[in-house]
Amino acid sequence: MIQGRGRGKVILLGEHAVVYGYPALAAALDRGAEAELSASSDDRLVSATALLNARRKHSHDEKCEQIDEAFTALLESFSAIPLGVCLKIQLEIPPGVGLGGSAATGIALSAAIAAHLGRSGDLALIESAALAWERVFHGTPSGVDTALALHGGVGLFDKMRGFQRVDIKEPLHIAIANSGAKTSTREMVEAVALRREQEGEAVDEILRSIGLLAKRGALALNDNDLLTLGEAMNENHRLLAGLGLSTPSLDALQRAALNEGALGAKLTGSGGGGALVALARSREQAEALALALSSLALETSSYEIKPW
Ligand code: PMV
Repeated sequence: MIQGRGRGKVILLGEHAVVYGYPALAAALDRGAEAELSASSDDRLVSATALLNARRKHSHDEKCEQIDEAFTALLESFSAIPLGVCLKIQLEIPPGVGLGGSAATGIALSAAIAAHLGRSGDLALIESAALAWERVFHGTPSGVDTALALHGGVGLFDKMRGFQRVDIKEPLHIAIANSGAKTSTREMVEAVALRREQEGEAVDEILRSIGLLAKRGALALNDNDLLTLGEAMNENHRLLAGLGLSTPSLDALQRAALNEGALGAKLTGSGGGGALVALARSREQAEALALALSSLALETSSYEIKPW
């Protein structure tokens, strides 16, 4: 059985600014997506949840059209001719809440196809095929999600330099709360672009400041200075809220996380709904935070971010 895996991710600092070339600090989750490849008469994609079924040839079912298109773009990154593969996908994180579910899926599918073609070592090909998939859903993805889904660990990502690993000495402990409101990355990125057009320098200044926070957070992580990282997360939440990307329920979750003793908390991903990430001092505190936030969220989970 040929398999491929992609990891989910959480952006600790820097979403949206990363679209404009600034760095973002992000960490891979230990959960993501797993693809299983088998031979088939036509190229097709199936999922356990039936949310994601697609064929290379368009199925003429409107609901499936975008997935068909993304699947076709991904396959064509490998070959213009049919490969004869059936890909079964299992998603282990909630989709559409800023945890990189679609990038994890794109990387899992690409990694399985690369293995099938004997090209597992060609990471650039795997990443670019997953980006072709992402573009159909997100328009102009910065690439941070696919980079984390592929490389894992913790890193600074910017569009020029790509992924640069940040060494962390100890595992990080976080809680993630899904506010329950689905969000569209494409729409949120477009909203920021519109605001930038209308407000110009003021928005650029905010994006620059967010990029600086990401760099500061990476240095803090190198020094295992969680207090500084937490402060940067709080400041980042304030700046994202200033861009209109938070919601009353994300703000309430952020306040609750800080009241419960989180070192920092912010919305994560595109905002406008989706999830909040809270930084904890320990596994026990991350679990306690997840429990405390559960009354305000659709679902909560604690995660350990490993140093690799
Ligand atoms: O919501 P997500 O997980 O797709 O993250 C989006 C991050 C953005 O910076 C808003 C967009 C991007 O392409 O980097």
